Amino acid sequence: MQFHATRSSASSQRTACAVIGIYEKGELSAAANALDQKSGGLIRRVIKRGDFSGKAGTVLPIAELPGTPAERALLVGLGARAGFGRKTYRRAVAGAVDWLARSGARDAIFYLSQEHIPEVDAYYAARFAAESVAATLYRIPDLKSGKKQPQAKLSRVGVAVGDKGELAPARRGLNDGQGIAAGMSLTRDLGNLPANVCTPTYLASRARQMARDHKLVRARILEEADIKRLKMGSFLSVTRGSEQPPKLIVIEYRGGKPSEAPVALVGKGITFDSGGISLKPGLGMDEMKYDMGGAASVFGAIEALATIGAKINVVGVVPSCENMPSGRATKPGDIVKSMSGKTIEVLNTDAEGRLILCDALTYSRKFKPRAVVDIATLTGACVIALGSHYSGLFSNDEGLAQDLDAAGRRADDRAWHMPIAEEYSEQLKSNFADMANIGGREAGAVTAACFLWKFTDGLRWAHLDIAGTAWLSGAKKGSTGRPVPLLVDWLLSQA
Ligand code: BES
Ligand code: MN
Ligand code: ZN
Repeated sequence: MQFHATRSSASSQRTACAVIGIYEKGELSAAANALDQKSGGLIRRVIKRGDFSGKAGTVLPIAELPGTPAERALLVGLGARAGFGRKTYRRAVAGAVDWLARSGARDAIFYLSQEHIPEVDAYYAARFAAESVAATLYRIPDLKSGKKQPQAKLSRVGVAVGDKGELAPARRGLNDGQGIAAGMSLTRDLGNLPANVCTPTYLASRARQMARDHKLVRARILEEADIKRLKMGSFLSVTRGSEQPPKLIVIEYRGGKPSEAPVALVGKGITFDSGGISLKPGLGMDEMKYDMGGAASVFGAIEALATIGAKINVVGVVPSCENMPSGRATKPGDIVKSMSGKTIEVLNTDAEGRLILCDALTYSRKFKPRAVVDIATLTGACVIALGSHYSGLFSNDEGLAQDLDAAGRRADDRAWHMPIAEEYSEQLKSNFADMANIGGREAGAVTAACFLWKFTDGLRWAHLDIAGTAWLSGAKKGSTGRPVPLLVDWLLSQA
């Protein structure tokens, strides 16, 4: 897909499809008004007939628009003018792309971004448009044997701005948006692939592929023997029951100055979580192929930064293995020793994410990072607390938490700041080891974060629990690509 920013008005710009906004009660946007006048009032007549209400996200194509340079127009509902904002703008763009993808139009110009959108500047208006086009055109890498869905003809999208000063930020927005879209589509692909394809070995091969694709990316894969040498007893305890070899995947992106300390992103890469000996119930267990969503978001964020060419150093650390039951698997009550030296009583083998992450967090110290953010589909309790709209955000650094929260707001990929505190850590006490790996029924997302917190002394650290946000269930089952927009927004702000 090609994107370009343009300042020309709807009444003079040739296009296969002019995408123009209509507010509720038939109020025309500036571009709609311009085309209405050129076409002798055609748009007002359509609205007057009652064919289009302007409800947010709805569309009505107009096959011909004589007297104008547009071959056709697509009316897009913007909702009530008073309520127009980030959400309705994004819904309008998505609705338009959805129609365009099924139309014969090869190119289109979006005039929606010429409207005043509260809290969204020209940069974000363009970026959201690019993200939305890619998200709408995304197709799951399916293994269906029937006919493939036809490819959309749309190949060139213009985003119109109101005045000349907005051209440069809009171009940056389109560029960043395309990078984020590339990252999200990688994250979604990795998540959607079944666990018999997307194994730790497969993830390692995709990391190597990224290093081949991008000059500034390097990948290093640590094998089981290396992981043993590093004394990651906690990580190793999770992989014991699996036939698949574990991998510790390190992906470095060096877009910044060589002297600059990197940001470390640590992603949970459980390619299938059966629960282990603490076996999960069968219903919905297939969704535990998504338990590498944190890892996939680290891949996606780095893919995005490399595509954009961001001036920052980032190191991705991805511990990856399966969590399976077997005669050799770790048993409830087993005690393991983490790389940090701290011992852990594994009371529940299904609380495995924290067991691989604590060793990866310890390993990340080697890069002397200026901040460490781990991303993990860590707890069902987080889904109970926040549902599927906000990710859980935990941190030992107030400033870092605020920065990530702000990035989530800007990127429209929200997180909610949750507590970590000694009172909760009490729940992790063990009679037999330095700590237990579970903290009881109450505040499960918090006690999981507190477990990780114990391994972050002296680090500026944050944890994103994406158990509710990384994928959708039900009829729309599939990976969302979150929290790549949040991560990339934050990293770009640090560059
Ligand atoms: N991967 C799961 C968390 C999860 C569950 C994410 C459901 C999304 C949907 C994690 O490894 C897990 O099993 N956590 C346990 C922890 C418990 C044993 C303390 C959970 O949430 O039940
Ligand atoms: Mn689990
Ligand atoms: Zn898990």
